[in-house]
Amino acid sequence: MNRRTIRAASHTGEDRQIDPLQLHKAFAIATRGFSTYSLHPDDFVCDDTIKGGRTVNGRTGFFRHRGIAHFTIESLLELHPNPDRPIEILAAPSSIGCEAFGFAALGVRKGLGGKAGFNIDAFDCSERFTALARQGCYPIEMVRNMEESWRGILLDPDIVHDRFVNVRRAVKSRVRFLDHMFFQDFSPQKKYDVVMVNNLLMYLNDDEREQAMKVIVSTGAELLIVNTDDRVFSEMPPSLPYIHVKEHPVWADTPLAESAFLHTDYHIWARNKAAPEQHI
Ligand SMILES: C[S@@+](CC[C@H](N)C(=O)[O-])C[C@H]1O[C@@H](n2cnc3c(N)ncnc32)[C@H](O)[C@@H]1O
Repeated sequence: MNRRTIRAASHTGEDRQIDPLQLHKAFAIATRGFSTYSLHPDDFVCDDTIKGGRTVNGRTGFFRHRGIAHFTIESLLELHPNPDRPIEILAAPSSIGCEAFGFAALGVRKGLGGKAGFNIDAFDCSERFTALARQGCYPIEMVRNMEESWRGILLDPDIVHDRFVNVRRAVKSRVRFLDHMFFQDFSPQKKYDVVMVNNLLMYLNDDEREQAMKVIVSTGAELLIVNTDDRVFSEMPPSLPYIHVKEHPVWADTPLAESAFLHTDYHIWARNKAAPEQHI
C-alpha cells in the first residue's frame, strides 16, 4: 500500500485510497480537536453546519448508549431467537458512525440474529459526517479512553499509519451508511424490525416530528428505540414538545403509552403488544 494513503473499505466493498493527513484533519474538525466531555470522556463532539446554515451538532461515542444497546439486543434475541433472515435495523442519526459501529460490535458479540445475523442501515443529514462514518477507521485520539475489553470487540488491534484504528471487518460489514438525508425525508426500501432514533426527536420542530413519526410507521418496525439525553434535555425548556405517545395512533394502545416519557432516559417502545416491554 502506498505509505501516503490509507485504505478504507466502504460499505459497497470497494477500497478507496485516502490521504491519512486529510482524513485526520477532517475528524479533528468534526470533533473540534477531539473534544470530549469531562463527565463522559468517551463522548465526542460532532459539529457541522449543513446547507441552509442549519447547525447539526451534539455528541457521539462508540459505546455511549451501551445500556440501551444491550437491552435492545436482548429484546431482539427474545423476539427473534432463531430467525431465518437477518434482523433489519434502522439507526439514525448516525453522525460519524460511532454509535452504529458500537451497536454492531455488541450485536456480533451477542450473536444477534443467530446464523442469519443482522444488518444496520444508518444515516445522518450531514454529508461530512457520513463521509467520515463510511471510512470505518478512526484516529487513535478517539479511542484513547476506551477500555481494552470494548476495544477488543470493536477494533482491530493494529494501529495503521501511526494514527488510525480500523473497525473490525466483521463489525464493519454489518453496517451500511446510506446517503445523507433528513430523517423526515427517508423512504424505507425494506421492512425493518427495529428503528433506533436515539435523540433525533430533539432536533426536530413540530412539523418535522410529525413527518418523522410517519416515516417510523412506514418502516413497519415492531420496536422503536428512543432516548432522551437528560444532560441535553436539562439545558432545554421543560416544554420540549415530544411525541404524545398516548395519542399517537401507532403507540396509543401499547403499555408504553402510560410511561412518563419526559422523565426517563431511555425508552424501548414495543409496537407488538405481545413483545415484552423493556424500560431501562
Ligand atoms: C447528538 S448527534 C446524535 C448522535 C447519534 N445518535 C450517533 O449515532 O452518533 C445528532 C445528530 O443528528 C443529526 N441530525 C440532526 N437533525 C437531523 C435530521 N432531521 N435527520 C437526520 N439527522 C439529523 C446531526 O447531523 C447529528 O449527527
